[in-house]
Amino acid sequence: MSALGTPHLHLRATTSTNDRARELAARGAPHGTLVTAAEQSAGRGRQGRAWSAPAGCALLLSVLVRRPLELLPLAAGVAVAAVVGGEARIKWPNDVLVADRKIAGILVEGRPQEGWAVIGVGVNVAVQLADLPAELRGSAATMGLERDAIPGVRDALLDELDAVLRLAPGELLDAYRERDALAGRRISWATGTGTAAGIDGAGRLIVALDAGGQTELDAGEVHLTVTPAP
Ligand code: BTN
Repeated sequence: MSALGTPHLHLRATTSTNDRARELAARGAPHGTLVTAAEQSAGRGRQGRAWSAPAGCALLLSVLVRRPLELLPLAAGVAVAAVVGGEARIKWPNDVLVADRKIAGILVEGRPQEGWAVIGVGVNVAVQLADLPAELRGSAATMGLERDAIPGVRDALLDELDAVLRLAPGELLDAYRERDALAGRRISWATGTGTAAGIDGAGRLIVALDAGGQTELDAGEVHLTVTPAP
């Protein structure tokens, strides 16, 4: 049994499991507290986006981590990718892709000054792509399992997350690099374009800039692009 996942609050429906887990964290809930839901009415993603999943078809969970490591967002990506399996890759910082299509998303939120963070994970375990909003269908992936596989995927993820959180920073970064979806590929972001060149020791994305030179991105969203190098 994993060190994560107790206590466990399961809700048939809620706005966002991250909201419930944050409330529990603020009330002093212990490390490992887990919130799951069959359905979210206001699931949240990174960069202010919504997260959408048909009821009962996705793993929707939030787990409370006390004394979180700085690399927690990358650690969560490594754990989720390991559970999704062999073909899974991580698009910096922590989208999990299969064949460049997103199968899982991660939203880490917290209060560093209070010493806690919540890892929110959505995995398309039994989602039928046809049931997703039209704008997501072309870029999403699914594990293609039955709904009754969701508890097993949840337990495997909690075990994997617990193991990854115990890795030394160098081991964690190496595990990330093994699944890096971007290394050597053309990317764009709000203010630039370039070629991804791995992550540095702080988990920042290294980019060889089209304009010349190199930069390290420490936040934000990047996009894979087919635009050729100048
Ligand atoms: C992203 O890809 O932008 C992150 C998506 C994170 C979605 C999960 S679903 C469970 C948890 N509750 C939320 O409201 N969001 C996360």
